[in-house]
Amino acid sequence: MTESSTRDDSTPNPAGRASVPWECSSREVTSSQTAPHEDLERQLIRHAQRPFAKPVAAYNREAFDQVATQLATSQRALILDSGCGTGDSSRLLAYRYPNHWIVGVDRSADRLSRQRADTPPNCLLVRADLIDFWRLAHEHGWEPVHHYLLYPNPEPKPRHLKRRFHAHPVFPAFVALGGRIESRSNWRVYLEELAQALAFHGRACHIESIPTDEPPMTLFERKYRASGQPLWRLISVD
Ligand SMILES: C[S@@+](CC[C@H](N)C(=O)[O-])C[C@H]1O[C@@H](n2cnc3c(N)ncnc32)[C@H](O)[C@@H]1O
Repeated sequence: MTESSTRDDSTPNPAGRASVPWECSSREVTSSQTAPHEDLERQLIRHAQRPFAKPVAAYNREAFDQVATQLATSQRALILDSGCGTGDSSRLLAYRYPNHWIVGVDRSADRLSRQRADTPPNCLLVRADLIDFWRLAHEHGWEPVHHYLLYPNPEPKPRHLKRRFHAHPVFPAFVALGGRIESRSNWRVYLEELAQALAFHGRACHIESIPTDEPPMTLFERKYRASGQPLWRLISVD
């Protein structure tokens, strides 16, 4: 028997918005881990004590500089959509907040290349690794008013704890960016861990079910919803 399994990072159908059978076959996350990882606290302490010194990759710096140049053309409040995948949520936010900049970041060029036709001008989609992008954004004084982290890869195997953003050395930079944080997941344990990590850094939050009649914000949310999975969101107001 496998320790845990998930199809959360399965490649979505390029057909995108069409309702197709794969959308209904998404399985719930299963894991031998049913509560926050007992090693999380230790990781949080470690990462708070030692600054994350890994050098920033040139391609991430270039991507960051390009976005920063565009943002400088017009003073607007900023919304970050970290791990935006195909950017559906970034576009939705751009229409919802026409006077804000929305920056959607994902490391997958393939996902970012889909469905770009209707991307409004206040929405910038950028290919970069968040491990570097968050640090650059913080160093350059970015202060997003909202920070979305929608359906991050859950990495549900207990031995993969360190792959989860909140157990990674970059997490203090994520927190330092500030703003209202919203994260969504189909694995509640992920959000419980994120809540623990935010509390460690002095940020309160709550976790609630996402009502089933709310329109999906993202491709993955639509897929999970179509297969009847319970979904949760964590909200932390700055
Ligand atoms: C499960 S998908 C969710 C995508 C989108 N938010 C949605 O709900 O449809 C997780 C996304 O996070 C991206 N991702 C994971 N780790 C990343 C990192 N270190 N930097 C940038 N993107 C990352 C993946 O490429 C993937 O598109």
